[in-house]
Amino acid sequence: MNTKLTKKLIVANWKMNGYSEDASKYLEQYFAEANSGQQNSEIVICPPFTLLNIFAQKSQHNNISIGGQDCHEAQDGAYTGSISAKMLKNIGCDYVILGHSERRSALKESNKTVSLKAKSAQEQGLKTVICVGETLDERENNMAEEVVKRQILQSMPDSASNANTVIAYEPIWAIGSGKIPSLDDIEKMHSFIKQVAVKELPYFDEAPKILYGGSVKSTNSASILATNNVDGLLVGKASLDAQEFCKIIRTA
Ligand code: PGA
Repeated sequence: MNTKLTKKLIVANWKMNGYSEDASKYLEQYFAEANSGQQNSEIVICPPFTLLNIFAQKSQHNNISIGGQDCHEAQDGAYTGSISAKMLKNIGCDYVILGHSERRSALKESNKTVSLKAKSAQEQGLKTVICVGETLDERENNMAEEVVKRQILQSMPDSASNANTVIAYEPIWAIGSGKIPSLDDIEKMHSFIKQVAVKELPYFDEAPKILYGGSVKSTNSASILATNNVDGLLVGKASLDAQEFCKIIRTA
């Protein structure tokens, strides 16, 4: 049996949080907790760019991967303030989160931009976590599937494959709000995304992994992870506390 296929993927998105002293303490706690229990999941931590180096060094030979929270679509050049996929790879990252709704809305990142960034990341051998999700208004107006479908079709480069792409379904109204969709709604949307991907995107041989994100914590992670078509989680706030994050991991 290929255990990789059955392992859940749990990604921590630290957003703009954390300082060097937090990173070292966090990893000590994390490794102490993680080593004491059975790990039935693949873990990725995406700290801010300033902490990637510490995480990459301290995580070597341990069972976690490191990811960036964004990258530029070009590999090098005159792009003040930006970080490229090549730089993420160079520092030891295996993953990058792209198209997070906070970037789509605050920085006006379009689906096209997300697709260019994903292409660049995939060319560097990074695995991309591509985020999609509807607003509350769109859900209440029965437009959630239409919006998510457009995001998937337009944000995905033709270099995408099952090996390098994971989709994160994050309803925007659930992020940081303490609210989550019903398990039934999560299952329906994940199943819809898988169908869209296999039917409309020829470079997927099989349905890609779909993560759920938005207000995940240790008290709801077990039921979300047990829901059909949920292949893992993208965790924001609750991933900042090593003990809480380890509790979430243990529910996988
Ligand atoms: P949250 O964030 O877990 O704090 O809701 C999730 C995310 O934005 O990825």
